[in-house]
Amino acid sequence: MSTSLSINLKRPSKIYYEGDIIAGVVVVECAGEVRHEGLSLAAEGAVNLQLSSKSVGIFEAFSNSIKPINLLNISVELAPPGKIPAGVTEIPFEIPLRPRQAVSPGYPGLLETYHGVFVNIMYTLKCGMKRSFLNKPLNASCQFFVQYKHQEAPAPKPVRCEVTPSSLRAGRGRRGRGGAAGGAARAPMPRFQLYAEIDSTVCALDKPLTGKIRVDECSVPIKSIELQLVRVETCGCADGYSRDATEIQNIQVGAGDVARAREVPLHMVLPRLFACPTTTTVNFKIEFELNIAVIFEDDYLVTENFPILLLRCR
Ligand SMILES: *[C@@H]1O[C@H](CO)[C@@H](O)[C@H](O)[C@H]1NC(C)=O
Ligand SMILES: *[C@@H]1O[C@H](CO)[C@@H](O)[C@H](O)[C@H]1NC(C)=O
Repeated sequence: MSTSLSINLKRPSKIYYEGDIIAGVVVVECAGEVRHEGLSLAAEGAVNLQLSSKSVGIFEAFSNSIKPINLLNISVELAPPGKIPAGVTEIPFEIPLRPRQAVSPGYPGLLETYHGVFVNIMYTLKCGMKRSFLNKPLNASCQFFVQYKHQEAPAPKPVRCEVTPSSLRAGRGRRGRGGAAGGAARAPMPRFQLYAEIDSTVCALDKPLTGKIRVDECSVPIKSIELQLVRVETCGCADGYSRDATEIQNIQVGAGDVARAREVPLHMVLPRLFACPTTTTVNFKIEFELNIAVIFEDDYLVTENFPILLLRCR
């Protein structure tokens, strides 16, 4: 007696570009004939923003401004009220992926799918079968992914830097003692000279991020060299906002007391879904940074930070 509803997309990757047709079938499977009051399908997309707990207090006055931002809202009727025969019935559909029309100013258009901590951009197909009033409607949903078309690659922007105790004192980079900053009496800073290079701070999402690091001198043993990808999510508007940096992934590029004056390659593949093109809208921003962290044996940590621009490009 049970009836099931599911959505199957034609494209196995479920990745769509603006202007594409989202095609597939809705499958109804039932043991006996099913009477229904209409079968419909909707494609929805929204940005969900969440304020970090540390800033909620400040936000109370205008917490309303953190409503989801509707990016896509299209619905089509798949079948008028009627009957579906016993067995498996496939109902084909085609929905054009187009930005909303007649929208309020500030509408950002179709943004890329992104799963963050404080910002989430998600697209869903929702199918619903209305039934006579004693029966609950039947529902099915399925996520799909939106990507920008690949643009031409811009010229690379390499950066090179030397990290020394005096460059840190000058305010570039950061230093700390492995999560216990400001604790017990500080040992004097070790003597070191590091050289780091990022091949380009403008990066294609589909290509690895590359560079190199070299330890020219270091007066204490090194425990680890790490490359960290960080997202910086800003939610809010001109009246106030929350801004949070969280780590997406951390790759150890050097383990132990690495050889001096020898180049260590940096190589990082950007994660799907957790990274997206750098995005700036009136209500939120998604930005990315790269940290090169050198951890000395006593857990003393030196970090050099590079803002990067992520693009969907060749
Ligand atoms: C989507 O559109 C329908 C009608 O076209 C409307 O009733 C509904 O509120 C919209 N949903 C959102 C989240 O804006
Ligand atoms: C289920 O489908 C019905 C009928 O189309 C719709 O009105 C309802 O909002 C859907 N419920 C959910 C949770 O999507």
